[in-house]
Amino acid sequence: MYRIGTMGLLLLGILGVGIVGGCSSMRAETEPPRAGPPESAAQRDARMAWWREARFGMFIHWGLYAVPAGEWQGQTNHAEWIRETARIPLEEYEQFVAQFNPVKFNADEWVRIAKDAGMKYIVITSKHHDGFCLFDSRHTEFDVRSTPFRRDILKELAEACRRQGLRICWYHSIMDWHHPDYLPRRAWEQRSAEGADFGRYCAYLKGQLRELLTNYGPIGVLWFDGEWEDTWTHEHGEPLYDYVRALQPDIIVNNRVDKGRGGMAGMTSGRHAGDYGTPEQEIPATGLPGVDWETCMTMNDHWGYNKRDKNFKSAAELLRMLADIASKGGNYLLNVGPTAEGEFPPESVARLAEMGRWMKINGEAIYGTQASPFPSLPWGRCTQRALPDGRKRLYLHVFEWPADGRLEVLGLLADPVRAFLLADPDHAPLAVVREGDVVVVTLPSSAPDPVNSVVALDVQRRPAVDRK
Ligand code: GLC
Repeated sequence: MYRIGTMGLLLLGILGVGIVGGCSSMRAETEPPRAGPPESAAQRDARMAWWREARFGMFIHWGLYAVPAGEWQGQTNHAEWIRETARIPLEEYEQFVAQFNPVKFNADEWVRIAKDAGMKYIVITSKHHDGFCLFDSRHTEFDVRSTPFRRDILKELAEACRRQGLRICWYHSIMDWHHPDYLPRRAWEQRSAEGADFGRYCAYLKGQLRELLTNYGPIGVLWFDGEWEDTWTHEHGEPLYDYVRALQPDIIVNNRVDKGRGGMAGMTSGRHAGDYGTPEQEIPATGLPGVDWETCMTMNDHWGYNKRDKNFKSAAELLRMLADIASKGGNYLLNVGPTAEGEFPPESVARLAEMGRWMKINGEAIYGTQASPFPSLPWGRCTQRALPDGRKRLYLHVFEWPADGRLEVLGLLADPVRAFLLADPDHAPLAVVREGDVVVVTLPSSAPDPVNSVVALDVQRRPAVDRK
């Protein structure tokens, strides 16, 4: 849907935005969409508005693979790819169906945990690469209805999200290691491909998408994945984008619906369908003006549940990543891999609660903000928003609290109006002066938050920045 022509163009865009001061005007430049119903830039902005406001969402990878919990024949480094990485024959893998019985699953509890963390949307695996469906699909028996649990997990989650004010979104894998018509087979598999018909598989895919987009109310995002195999082409991707938008015109579709994604960096090149880029496990070095993107990331080293994987990032790390991503104009989709019993790992719950405590105080510096006007800042990050009176508020995310109490903002040409700490309920003014081309905010001796304390700095109309 968008195009990143050449590096030069990109650079020009970044500089241009800096010079005119801020990124608020950058959205209109996106190219008119090629796929989907005709849409003006204003209509596209309206469709993307909730997602750009949200900034923070929860990814959930859940399915049959939670049963082996990462372990197979003594190897413990598997997860949602276990059928492939442990080379499990289909008939053997299918036996997990009879074992999937997440009796502790409570949709309202999951949604509450996401909401308390400050997340605004949930993207859950309606179907992962293994082909198993967490919803009641009339197109296959390989779904939750065939398990002892039987309940339509997606229905319960969609309803809980609606009750609690979050958007429900589906992750749906194009690649399918179970359906007889999907091609190619895995290289190691014995399963015959005779008679397989990829066209019939596409009809199956569309049939399931129709279920997912008609039986569960409004869906925020269709998050495709597994588009990289040769059988999936641009000629499949673009019409699929159209198909999804025709069923729910306001829906947002990620760029993995088509073939334009550039590896793990996740951004689209060329004219391809998809509303936003999907960097995976990485954060772009800079924001990309005019381009919507979302970094998806695991909290530990696996997407699906792995009982041995205790390599969790700290809440501090996760919070700084959230600020980093927002400062570059992106969203953060942070993953949880629930257990086969239906619970979030306690490590994930603890981190989410800690993130929520920070978000309650500092959420204003994340939600609906725009990218930083500064190329970089030695002590942290910056996000910004336009205030109703036409001034700009810069949110200075201070990671490294200055020992001498002088927070120096270098290169800010707009004059400061006032400054205060978001953590201070009284918003007591902090001294702020211009000293040549540096604006200096005087801070109290200790940081209100050792991870990230946010100083709100209101400046005159144009927070032009000298980017030299
Ligand atoms: C990858 C993996 C997958 C995971 C996804 C999340 O493409 O195949 O297991 O769901 O990334 O971005």
